[in-house]
Amino acid sequence: MNGKNVLITGCTSGTGFVLARTCAQLGATVYMLNRPSERATVALDQLRNEGNSKAFLIECDLQDYASVRKAGKALRDQLQNEGCDVLCNNAGVMGLPDVATADGYDVQIQTNHLSHFLLTHELWPLLERAAELKGEARVISHSSGARKMGNRPITSRFFERNGGHLGGDRFPGLQKWVRYQQSKLANLLFSYALHDRRPQGLARGVKVLTAHPGPTDSGLQAKTFKAGGNGLADRYIIGRTMKVAQSVEDGSAGIARCACEHDIKSGEFYGPIGRGRPGPALLLEPERNIEMEKLLWDLSMRATGISSFFTV
Ligand SMILES: NC(=O)c1ccc[n+]([C@@H]2O[C@H](COP(=O)([O-])OP(=O)(O)OC[C@H]3O[C@@H](n4cnc5c(N)ncnc54)[C@H](OP(=O)(O)O)[C@@H]3O)[C@@H](O)[C@H]2O)c1
Repeated sequence: MNGKNVLITGCTSGTGFVLARTCAQLGATVYMLNRPSERATVALDQLRNEGNSKAFLIECDLQDYASVRKAGKALRDQLQNEGCDVLCNNAGVMGLPDVATADGYDVQIQTNHLSHFLLTHELWPLLERAAELKGEARVISHSSGARKMGNRPITSRFFERNGGHLGGDRFPGLQKWVRYQQSKLANLLFSYALHDRRPQGLARGVKVLTAHPGPTDSGLQAKTFKAGGNGLADRYIIGRTMKVAQSVEDGSAGIARCACEHDIKSGEFYGPIGRGRPGPALLLEPERNIEMEKLLWDLSMRATGISSFFTV
């Protein structure tokens, strides 16, 4: 990873922090895209104290499109010559109440998917620049086993300006998990849609990849409880996860493979095999659904106000 610029969202803790540390130890310059907080400063200090002086904090709050655009512009100014070798869209929230962001979208859908869609658009020129200089660049999404919960298809209303009106949090509190499922299915289908839509030329040098960690003992579950998640569904789903959860290091194996391994092809998907079981990050069978990918792409373009994805 020597000489590479790696940009990671949500690396105050969990799999994002492990990836940041791994890439820094392997010689990369790491840009930590976090919302401003003490956690973000502590994570940056931790990397730097370990001797990784090539780590930087870029403020990026995924609950706020303006913050995402600002981060995009700052990075385009800073890295216009060198480009971005790896963008890992890792950040996520889970099982949060039915609340709208300032932009009017559901907090889970905007944080986990829509803002990452916007960020990838904002940084696309940097990915193409790295592909021009080094022959390839990578953009990675972090999905979840929850993408398959109830086998629910992508449903338009979750990706429209309906925050606060998407099922509420009433007993037994299942709807918040449907919103999480939609956001995590969106992570995978966004990758497939982007892979197919890359125009001819430099853009084809940008590999589009997805991983999922499997049940992982990170900070994620505690945050669900902290946000008031103590219903039947919360306790059942989180209890089941924690029973089999693996370490954060093992959980980050999928995004690490996507970011660092040599023989990785655009469109690939890595993670543990089987439901509710951890394990090594292996190459998984594709889960394509062209119709749903198109629906998601169109909804995401509309929700983020992008007119042309590959031009900023
Ligand atoms: N843990 C699991 O069992 C599991 C299973 C399947 C998938 N995943 C996925 O793995 C990814 C990483 O999660 P994790 O398990 O490592 O959990 P985590 O330790 O809670 O990490 C999540 C990261 O996302 C960041 N984040 C949340 N809201 C943000 C916002 N508005 N703007 C910027 N950053 C924000 C958090 O930063 P703050 O400190 O600011 O909150 C944190 O750094 C997520 O996409 C999650 O859906 C996890």
